[in-house]
Amino acid sequence: MLIKIRKGWELPESRVTSESNYLNRRDILKGMAGAGLVVSIGASLPFRNALADEMDPSAGLYPVPHNGMYKITRPMTPEKISTTYNNFYEFGSHKTIWEAAQALPIRPWTVRIDGAVEKEMEIGIDDLLKKMPLEERNYRHRCVEAWSMVVPWSGFPLKELVKLAKPTSKAKYLVMHTFENKSVAPGQRQFWYPWPYTEGLTMEEATNDLAFLVTGMYGKPVSKQNGAPLRLAAPWKYGFKSVKSITHFTFTEKRPVTFWEKLNDNEYGFWANVNPEVPHPRWSQATERDIGTGEHLSTQIFNGYGEYVAEIYEDIKGESLYM
Ligand code: MTE
Repeated sequence: MLIKIRKGWELPESRVTSESNYLNRRDILKGMAGAGLVVSIGASLPFRNALADEMDPSAGLYPVPHNGMYKITRPMTPEKISTTYNNFYEFGSHKTIWEAAQALPIRPWTVRIDGAVEKEMEIGIDDLLKKMPLEERNYRHRCVEAWSMVVPWSGFPLKELVKLAKPTSKAKYLVMHTFENKSVAPGQRQFWYPWPYTEGLTMEEATNDLAFLVTGMYGKPVSKQNGAPLRLAAPWKYGFKSVKSITHFTFTEKRPVTFWEKLNDNEYGFWANVNPEVPHPRWSQATERDIGTGEHLSTQIFNGYGEYVAEIYEDIKGESLYM
């Protein structure tokens, strides 16, 4: 049962995606647990940025230079919408987790890099930020639930982290894990989910210039609910590939079985490239709803990024590349 207490800052129904698709997704979990009770509690906090920026030691780094390579022809999604309509199951299986996510401590934040690398390492997020060439990119984001947005992310190309890690020839995949901390993330107390949230890319995908590690948004540090202090943006893939709040990168020979794939491999695969012609088993992927404008738009193959990534997949046969 979902108990929903509408707050003043919540979006009017007319501005958000119908939750029917999202609720469908929750059906996966039926039978895996008894009735879940999701209650949003806690006093209303001031809107996120006043709070988040104050405590984030990286705030002085932003804004960073804009990289205009990846053009957007749609309106930017207002910050107030992209930071209050989120998927972050660690904090609840509903869209309004932004308050709950404020409980996540983002300093100290250590990133571990291991597996098939010349030398395993642990590095604090602020030291990592000093080593990386920060830039801003405007990206489209297309969720598998058929909603989308446009966000000015700041961060650095994932290939720069790969360079720092010096993978060996054994590395075929890059696996990324989210933090694990049951004491702040109530979702992680729900044992039927295969925590930690895990995602992966092939090395070719990870070193494609489009794969971006996000550390900021709207010219400020990225909000906790959007994946502070470090999240992936792989904009040609469904949004569930863009893992949030990463603590661990592992280079492996073996393809990982990712979070949603473990829950239902018939609906959420490893590749998850956006394709309007390949429906989700329970809904069409032909269109998407822009959460900023409320408009319904035609979905583009590879979310419109085919010119940069389509060739990666040309020789891959016998795989479900679009789910
Ligand atoms: N990362 C973690 N750790 N936990 C999650 O539940 N949800 C994914 C992805 N990354 C998720 C995650 C999904 S389904 C989507 S659509 C995007 O985050 C949502 O990102 P946003 O909240 O910034 O829009």
